[in-house]
Amino acid sequence: MDKLVIDGGKPIRKKLFPQRIMFDEKEVKIITEMMKNATKENTAKYLDRYAGLQVDTYEKEFAKFFGTKYATAVSSGTAAIHSAIASLDLEPGDRIITTPITDPGTVMPIIFQGLIPVFADVDYDTLNLTTETIEEKIDEKTKAIIVVHLAGVPCEMDKIIELAKRYNLKVIEDCAQSHASIYKDKYVGTFGDIGVFSLMSGKHITSGGQGGMIITDNEEYYWKAKRFADRGKPFGIENPKGNVCIGLNYRMTEIEAAIGRVQLKKIKKIAEKRFKIVEELRKGFKNLKGFSLWKRPKDSKPNYWFCFVKVEQGKFKFNKWKLAEILSKEGLPIGAHYVIPMYENPFLKQRKTFGTSEYPFKPYAPEIVYKCPVAEKALNSHITLYLNECWGKKEVEDTIKIFERVEKFCIK
Ligand SMILES: Cc1ncc(COP(=O)(O)O)c(C=O)c1O
Repeated sequence: MDKLVIDGGKPIRKKLFPQRIMFDEKEVKIITEMMKNATKENTAKYLDRYAGLQVDTYEKEFAKFFGTKYATAVSSGTAAIHSAIASLDLEPGDRIITTPITDPGTVMPIIFQGLIPVFADVDYDTLNLTTETIEEKIDEKTKAIIVVHLAGVPCEMDKIIELAKRYNLKVIEDCAQSHASIYKDKYVGTFGDIGVFSLMSGKHITSGGQGGMIITDNEEYYWKAKRFADRGKPFGIENPKGNVCIGLNYRMTEIEAAIGRVQLKKIKKIAEKRFKIVEELRKGFKNLKGFSLWKRPKDSKPNYWFCFVKVEQGKFKFNKWKLAEILSKEGLPIGAHYVIPMYENPFLKQRKTFGTSEYPFKPYAPEIVYKCPVAEKALNSHITLYLNECWGKKEVEDTIKIFERVEKFCIK
């Protein structure tokens, strides 16, 4: 008799789902060469961007790929967001609107710059910000928007840019999860004033475990971000007399850039493959009654970093936590939840910022309260399926079969 694995049944899939294969001989070769040279010359100097060409070249190649004038490589996605925000030269207490469904790396740099994060709600079907939710939060202190293309699904950037222009707001696109995702024939990251990327190990491509990139067409933001990411060095200034602003050391290393350059060549294929896998999954999910995939906006081609699966909990005997456990026991790479709403994290709830000062909330926004009901509902009704570009037809078929089986046993 057919039974769920959790009840002692046999799994549909005997093998584990495939792991990603991120590297090949090309990364090994370049790093081996670099280390041999460093050892021969007995110096670590050439591993720093000042004495090498890898970071400079990576920046040029990254900008070329995205069709922007400038790119600045940094040490993480968080560093990229921090440098991008710093380049806007905002005043303490100014506000930046962003999404509550993201990584802390989107939000913490706002606070570090003495600015107030304001969370706009999301669209239930895409889990992304929309013009309507952003507009509700705009006030006279709002100076910028950070949009996040969550799990690779683009926000509707044409409308968001139009809104931002209307209110004279700057737009930073957080593309940590959306390398080479396309919206209306353009890569995300190229719509706003600045696009930022995380290149850490789990992302579509990496620059060696950690890394980040800032892209822009705006020369002023480019220099300011570059200076901020290197302790205020006077890049782009004639006859400098010293360091020109405060900043941090967010420099990328030569080894990271060398890996990043090889990886950049792989991004198109990875994005394309993931797009196809999820679009195939969508076909299978059409026959399900209680599980469905989240929406792909019109005219978009997401790179799908992972897959949100909506669970209509009223139709099942169990809640989504139990269903995620059942699916996971069937062998699927499933997470019961992605994140908690950003404002539920202790660092925001308890305003753990600078000592006991609560700066910048005190003095600039002591009264601010965060609540995004749609985001909360969306997070409470979605589970996450972790696919990757190494999946083939069989993995797609098995995934659909597993969801069908779990639905058969668990639906009311
Ligand atoms: C949307 C988003 N923004 C920012 C970050 C921070 O990037 P990093 O971990 O490279 O600092 C991440 C990392 O997962 C992310 O997913």
